[in-house]
This record gives sequence, structure tokens and C-alpha cells, in this order.
Amino acid sequence: MNDAPVILHADDIIAGYLPGIDILNGCSMEVREGELIGIIGPNGAGKSTFLKALFGLVPIRSGTVSLSGEDITNMRADQLVHKGIGFVPQTNNVFPSLTIEENLEMGSYQAHKKFRENFDRVIDIFPVLGERRHQRAGSLSGGERQMVAMARALMMDPHVLLLDEPSAGLSPVRQDETFVRTRDINRTGVTVIMVEQNARRCLQIADRGYVLDQGTSAYTATGQELLKDPKVIELYLGTLGA
Ligand SMILES: Nc1ncnc2c1ncn2[C@@H]1O[C@H](COP(=O)(O)OP(=O)(O)OP(=O)(O)O)[C@@H](O)[C@H]1O
Ligand SMILES: [Mg+2]
Repeated sequence: MNDAPVILHADDIIAGYLPGIDILNGCSMEVREGELIGIIGPNGAGKSTFLKALFGLVPIRSGTVSLSGEDITNMRADQLVHKGIGFVPQTNNVFPSLTIEENLEMGSYQAHKKFRENFDRVIDIFPVLGERRHQRAGSLSGGERQMVAMARALMMDPHVLLLDEPSAGLSPVRQDETFVRTRDINRTGVTVIMVEQNARRCLQIADRGYVLDQGTSAYTATGQELLKDPKVIELYLGTLGA
């Protein structure tokens, strides 16, 4: 088992957008350094809301989030970026009128001096973005935009990366590429927490998965265990086997 220190701990989170309406009704998650965590669950379960709450974009009414032991509950997103958390939202995650390179510059607004160094590192992971650095993001395909969004988050050299459905809307080949890249990024030492509708593929690469339903983190197990879990198969995987 993984005995690395806990890097992110969400404890019994209650959160929502509107007064009196809780979307998350007690979400807990414990993530160890270097883990790749997959979060699966039905549409509307609160997966995106959970990531947004971790990243300070949805007010947490009760419960705590800590990063390496430090309380970061309801801390502002820009402060969280400073503390090493990166977030790639589910939608609207690039600036369409800016070029690829300009998008990546926006990603490093807090680390201008290190722009070159970070740019080279990120382009190493996504070479195609380097070749097309002067192309406007708005003229890219969905998969290429997704790459830009991920690259932008990586420009800040995060320790923890939150990804919301990085494979959504992509062709099977592009989806596969996204999972491989996510795995690669994780292998460079970045702790990854990914929400995915492609539950099978997600659990295949995840060290551990969480099932989120109706705003509650129902259970957690290793990716392999969840892939074999009859309830998970019935609800999220449809059929047995790959
Ligand atoms: N900005 C918002 N204001 C008010 N309610 C919202 C907002 N965004 C989401 N919700 C509500 O919160 C609930 C959970 O939505 P959320 O987007 O977290 O689900 P999800 O699990 O990410 O779903 P999906 O798989 O479709 O992406 C839904 O009932 C949704 O209507
Ligand atoms: Mg969502």
C-alpha cells in the first residue's frame, strides 16, 4: 500500500451555489502524494462542484480541506495556485482569441521569470503545441484545446492537478492520448485528481477511485478493485471486461 504522506484531505464537505441548497452533502477524500485519483459518478452527482469547491470556486459551508496539513478551506483560487494546485475546468478552459503561446503565458502570470523554463518543460510533454505556438486557440480542435488547457495549468508547475473530464467530447484516439498524457504527468511526480465520464479508462490508469453519488463520496477502492466491483460495473461500466 501507498504510505506516502497525505497531500490533500477533504473532510465531510458541504457546499453549494445557492443559499439553502447543498449540492455536496458530505464529501470526503484523502489523497497521498504522487497518487492518481479517479472520481466517477453519474451526471449531476456533484463531481465538478467537488473540484470547484476544492479550488475555492464554490463556497464550502461546513467541513475542511487541507493541503499537506495546512487548512486551505475556502482559500481563493489564485492563492491555491500559489500553493501548488492547478485546475483544468470542464468547459471554457482556453482563451480562444489568444495564441497557444499567449494562453501558456496567461498560465504563468504568477511566474513570469520562469516562463521560458516552464514553457520548454510543458512543450516537451505536448510537442505539437510548440510547433503551433502562434496558432489561435479558437481555431484548434477540441482535443488540441484540451491539451492547451492542461499545458496552461502545468505552466505553474503544480504539485496537485485537478482535471475535470479531460477526455469529454474527444474521439477515441484523442481520448486515449489524454489518458496517456495524464499518466505521464502523474509519473513526473504530480498528484492528479481527475473526474471522468469514461469510467473504465479512468479506473484503468488510476491508483484509486472514488465513487461520488448525490453529493456524497460513496466509497473508494483501488482502480482495479472498482473495475471488478459488481455495483460499479452495473452502474458505471455497463459491461464486464474491456
Ligand atoms: N453554477 C451553478 N449554479 C447552481 N447550480 C449548479 C451550478 N452548477 C451546477 N449546479 C448544480 O449542481 C449539481 C451538480 O452539478 P455538477 O456540475 O457538479 O455535476 P457533475 O457530477 O459534474 O455532472 P456531469 O457529469 O454532468 O458533469 C447539479 O444539480 C447542477 O444543476
Ligand atoms: Mg461535471
